[in-house]
Amino acid sequence: MLRRAIGFFLVIIIVSLGACKREGRAYRIAVSQCASGQWREKVNSEMLAAQHLYESNAEVGIACAYDDTGRQIEQIDSLAASGIDLLVVAPTESAPLAEAIARVRAAGIPVIFFDRKASTDDYTAFIGGDNVEVGRTVGEYVPTLLSTNEMKQSGGRPIVLEITGAMSSSPAQERHQGFSRAMKLRPELEYICAEGDWTSDKACHIVEQQIRKGRRPDIVFCHNDGMATGVYKAAVEAGLEDQIKILGIDGMPYEGLEYVKLGHQVGTYVYPTHGEEVVRLALDILTGKSYERENVLQGMMVTPENVDLIALNSRELLRQNDNLITIEDKLERYFGVVDIQKKVIIAAVATILLLITAFILILRALIQTRRTIRQRQTMNEEQTLFYTDASSRKLHDIFNRPDDDLPPPRTQDLIFAEQLNEAIRKHMSNPNLKMEELGEEMGLSRVQLYRKVKAITGQSPVELLRQMRLQRAYALLQSTNKTVQEIAFEVGFNTPGYFSKCFREQFGKYPTELRE
Ligand code: FRU
Repeated sequence: MLRRAIGFFLVIIIVSLGACKREGRAYRIAVSQCASGQWREKVNSEMLAAQHLYESNAEVGIACAYDDTGRQIEQIDSLAASGIDLLVVAPTESAPLAEAIARVRAAGIPVIFFDRKASTDDYTAFIGGDNVEVGRTVGEYVPTLLSTNEMKQSGGRPIVLEITGAMSSSPAQERHQGFSRAMKLRPELEYICAEGDWTSDKACHIVEQQIRKGRRPDIVFCHNDGMATGVYKAAVEAGLEDQIKILGIDGMPYEGLEYVKLGHQVGTYVYPTHGEEVVRLALDILTGKSYERENVLQGMMVTPENVDLIALNSRELLRQNDNLITIEDKLERYFGVVDIQKKVIIAAVATILLLITAFILILRALIQTRRTIRQRQTMNEEQTLFYTDASSRKLHDIFNRPDDDLPPPRTQDLIFAEQLNEAIRKHMSNPNLKMEELGEEMGLSRVQLYRKVKAITGQSPVELLRQMRLQRAYALLQSTNKTVQEIAFEVGFNTPGYFSKCFREQFGKYPTELRE
């Protein structure tokens, strides 16, 4: 019983503690980033800050492939196997990632392409900037950088050099598409394009080569601000920093925007991050809300004219996002503490209930034991009576008492009755007479004696003996002048009081009343 109660409470504790955890269930959103860098760091911190921003909670985990496609494929496979609810991925390269994405989709996990795409149509949604538009906007800005004077001075067509990102990635392909289209509309410019790999070193190297070849570019458009720094380095080394105008993309507060402010670059494009929108889209998908499949984030061209204002705003936004992250951290810690508190309270309540149950069960067991002891005592008293009381009345008389249920005594039984009668008469006055002794005298065990006496008289030996003792006392009271006390002792009662009580139960009056 106690074990069952303990089991029951253990189940309650486990279920309650489990419920405690489920209550704050957050959707597990894994982010697979193709690379690191300021732009990625910004978007990552925006996603982390948005974990508790919406109605449902998100648990954002971020992995970075550091521009290594093999590594990203491995990361994606292991993330998908780790029980995530949704995958946000910015593929290093479009084509090689398609198969890994297909495996994630086959596992029933929604996939959001963020910023970059893989060459597959099997994805849940896309969110990011419009890179064709980015390229086109920068392309349209280029001619405004060349005054007619400058055009004349160059003595030929001004050279515009585009240094792309890795062309296996979707943003590089699309930016190039937008930019080259804009360049085609400008035959007065000499447009050349070289493939970079998103790194400043490679961009630096490309420009050095151009200068060596005597093909100094007038304008260099890099697919990110990181590469723009490489170009600036090459220009400075060649003492041409005033003659080469550099454009980039990303527009980070402490990178591109700063370079425009410093005059190293003539422009950059703020490529939108909006990590909080990515988390919102993920939660909409996970909670079954309606959502757009293609989500384009707005960016903007930054020039020396508007850079101060934009830089101010961006820094402010960055600061606020940092504050949000601090709040997130505190919230996480708070949730953790509340969770622990809840568990402690549940465990304490369950323990108290368990103790109360155990107490009740122990109490019940005690009462039951007492009752059993009392029953045993009563039985013992009866036995004692049997051993201590005696009767002068012959068994013959007892057997002859009217009792229709009893079979007529058999000869052997009569012999037994006479022997028993004699044995009882012999030992009657001994108050410590034991049933075993009486049985022994009759050549029987205690149990055999009980069965035999019960079969012949219909009474237990205890009942029979008490009756015989009282009958003898009755006779003595009538035929002698002995005191009640003397007679009580003579028939084997220990106390005259108890004798009187039994006598009255048997004959309806006290021994003293009979005397009178
Ligand atoms: C960072 C980055 C950015 C660029 C973007 C394109 O990894 O190279 O500089 O704008 O990726 O996806």
